[in-house]
Amino acid sequence: MDEGFLSGRFLPLDFCFPRAWTTILKLESELALTFSKQALDSKLPQSLPILNTTDDTNVTIKNNLSPAQILFNLIKTRRSIRRYTTDPIPPETIRHLLEAATWAPSAHNRQPWRFAVLTRAADIKRLAEAMGAHLRADRIADGDDPVDIERDVARSYARLTGAPVVIIVCLSMADMDSYPDPRRSRNEWVMAAQSTAMAAQNLLLLAHAEGLAACWICAPLFAPDLAQETLALPVDWEPQGLITLGRPAETRDKVRLPIDTRVKFL
Ligand SMILES: Cc1cc2nc3c(=O)[nH]c(=O)nc-3n(C[C@H](O)[C@H](O)[C@H](O)COP(=O)(O)O)c2cc1C
Repeated sequence: MDEGFLSGRFLPLDFCFPRAWTTILKLESELALTFSKQALDSKLPQSLPILNTTDDTNVTIKNNLSPAQILFNLIKTRRSIRRYTTDPIPPETIRHLLEAATWAPSAHNRQPWRFAVLTRAADIKRLAEAMGAHLRADRIADGDDPVDIERDVARSYARLTGAPVVIIVCLSMADMDSYPDPRRSRNEWVMAAQSTAMAAQNLLLLAHAEGLAACWICAPLFAPDLAQETLALPVDWEPQGLITLGRPAETRDKVRLPIDTRVKFL
């Protein structure tokens, strides 16, 4: 190991943001990350001066990454995680994530996002059952194989009920502009949906930075009335999707296509 590495000056990005991201407990600041000591023991010599033991179980690693490098790596290492431990998520953590969501940009700064937070198992179960029944009916109407349908319904149910927190992401047109014609009305609605999606991404990223895991699930978009009715949401709240949230119980790998397949510099 060379001196640069030992001094921490050249701490490689791959080390700071290992694949097993879930071992990172906390982003202390842009210059420090807290890991579980047990997770690190297998990876690092104890003598590294970059390690600053904070307590018996955790270590904080100072690094020289710029905020931009840290943000890029957070963006890149976030994955959709669909399995969670049964640990409850503290209400203040959920509020913190929701506050991050509300700092997203929004059309006219009207903040059209609305979030319904479910933490009671009975509420999540009720929603999962309603969503499952809807999925079953849709797929029966499609003429799909009953065995496949039941597998899909069971998977959807397990994904929702396996999460300690479910957040229904909605939009409201209450504060958006009104137009007399369908073209501009539609565009205004799309702007509200775009704003809401940006808020959700903030939430997903901060959850990841906090060592939590989440996944966007589209089911409520396919049954917005059902989600609204089942949860007695305000009438102007239009469900767009939901986010399952918890402590990760799996790791996932996903890749992206090279940006040149999706970008044209003109
Ligand atoms: C609009 C949208 C809808 C999605 N719907 C679902 C879904 O219904 N179920 C699911 O498991 N994942 C869903 N996902 C997560 C995607 O499958 C996931 O983002 C994609 O496979 C890339 O993986 P990554 O997020 O781990 O990079 C959705 C994501 C988006 C943005």
